[in-house]
Amino acid sequence: MSEIFDVAVIGAGPGGYVAAIRCAQLGLNTVCIDEWKNQKGKPSLGGTCLNVGCIPSKALLESSENYFELKHKFSAHGISCDNAAVDVPTMVARKDKIVTTFTVGIASLFKKNKIKSIHGRGTLQKRTAPSEAWKIVVVDAGNEQILQAKHVIIATGSVPRQLPFAPIDNDKILDNIGALSLTEIPKRLGVIGAGVIGLEMGSVWRRLGAEVTILEALPEFMMAADEQIAKEANSIFSKELGLQMHMGVTIESVKTTKSKVTIRYADADKKKQTLEVEKLIVAIGRIPNTTGLGIDKNGLAVDERGLITVDAYCRTNLSNVYAVGDVVRGPMLAHKASEEGVAVAEMIAHIEKGQQVEQSQSIDFNVIPWIIYTSPEIAWVGKNEKELKAAGIAYKVGQFPFMANGRARSIGDASGFIKVLADEKRDRVLGIHMIGPNVSELISEAVMAMKFSASSEDIAAIVHAHPTLSEVLHEAALGVDGRALHI
Ligand code: FAD
Ligand code: NAI
Repeated sequence: MSEIFDVAVIGAGPGGYVAAIRCAQLGLNTVCIDEWKNQKGKPSLGGTCLNVGCIPSKALLESSENYFELKHKFSAHGISCDNAAVDVPTMVARKDKIVTTFTVGIASLFKKNKIKSIHGRGTLQKRTAPSEAWKIVVVDAGNEQILQAKHVIIATGSVPRQLPFAPIDNDKILDNIGALSLTEIPKRLGVIGAGVIGLEMGSVWRRLGAEVTILEALPEFMMAADEQIAKEANSIFSKELGLQMHMGVTIESVKTTKSKVTIRYADADKKKQTLEVEKLIVAIGRIPNTTGLGIDKNGLAVDERGLITVDAYCRTNLSNVYAVGDVVRGPMLAHKASEEGVAVAEMIAHIEKGQQVEQSQSIDFNVIPWIIYTSPEIAWVGKNEKELKAAGIAYKVGQFPFMANGRARSIGDASGFIKVLADEKRDRVLGIHMIGPNVSELISEAVMAMKFSASSEDIAAIVHAHPTLSEVLHEAALGVDGRALHI
């Protein structure tokens, strides 16, 4: 207990582990505490993102997409395979191997950066005097140790929100952990929630052959996305992929037996309906994880949703205690968590050197990209049309379809479009919305444009290589002034 660390990070997800690495790079003596255990009961760094979120879901999305293409799309290329088959355990083992590569990789990054890594649950203690170091009690398998640090970064992430009448057992009723670990393809799969997890996990199991029904409480599909993109996505997901989506439902009960799950719900017309499935995924959002942090004892302020209250610089109400990632306000995204982690690390380094906090150390949420890794992919940054209208901002629109792009046609994936929204007078880009092939990669150019306060004219003036998918963004930017060339 004698050593006083400069920084103690609680949580080693993309918020915490990135913060720890940046702190160490800046010469701060850093410890990172994390309690995650993998299916084998072994400590596993990387939090939700690496263990049961971003990375494993993308691994399964890729595998299932390959199978779907082989079965339904390769014949157009003159490639056929009569006996295409799926071996789910191999698919899941591949996913697990990718996860292990990255979680072990974080452990070696910690070692390389001389970050002390401690496994266990960290509880922040109450401080009796501002001059004191913060104390964190770490408990692992009944063993307790006390750490001291001048600064504490809380990055404890989030956990799935549960339906009170449908407790997760990860046998019949699944959260993201169960949905990523099925060992066989269910004949019928139900999903509650047409959000990001519902769509991504629903796509995986649908592509592999499950009959997938998604039940969503909201009356409209993907209300956070641009309306036109949501409409296009709804049509493709229903018609081409075969996801059955029911909007505006009220779930009334969920009952399980050995062989099935029965969901009773009222549909949008208030008619009683019953759905019977083998497995049910519940993906109705995530809630901040402050379990075990001791917030009732140490005076850490949380809001009505349980999120730790922070200012624009991720400072909590306790001096030298910061919080980043899913446990605070803002989008629950890995890249947002990491950016906050870096910003806080740099701020602490400034404070330790007696320097002023700079404005660049706060995050601009308006330039954080959103991506949904379905097929086609969906991505956006900035404001959508509905938001601009609500804010009374006059804007111009440029739009271009992938159908008119040579590269998209060549790869055989030409659905969707890109839309550029620019300020009517100053032409500054206000939002860019995409649905189509590889838009998860294309969105970076849009983010850069917005970060550098570009105009649509700036994007239009950039030479885009031919033939590439990026030409669709170029043409959409040209389209803002009615100058698109290939339509
Ligand atoms: P987490 O990653 O949740 O990490 C928190 C860590 O803190 C965990 O290891 C936890 O065990 C530990 N912890 C908690 N309390 C304590 C304590 N008291 N003591 C010690 N340790 C503690 N985001 C994207 O940007 N792109 C994606 O493609 C994407 N896909 C996703 C797919 C799924 C299925 C899910 C569920 C999420 C996905 N997300 C994605 C969201 C992303 O995973 C989260 O936004 C991100 O992990 C948040 O990072 P974090 O560091 O705040 O928290
Ligand atoms: P979500 O917030 O994206 O979607 C939840 C959906 O469930 C909403 O549409 C909501 O209206 C609906 N819902 C809520 N209660 C309901 C009820 N009782 N009955 C029916 N529907 C109900 O949450 P989700 O999908 O659980 O994902 C959590 C978060 O994880 C996401 O918001 C995102 O931040 C992150 N994530 C990000 C990914 C990415 O970046 N590609 C992928 C997966 C998750």
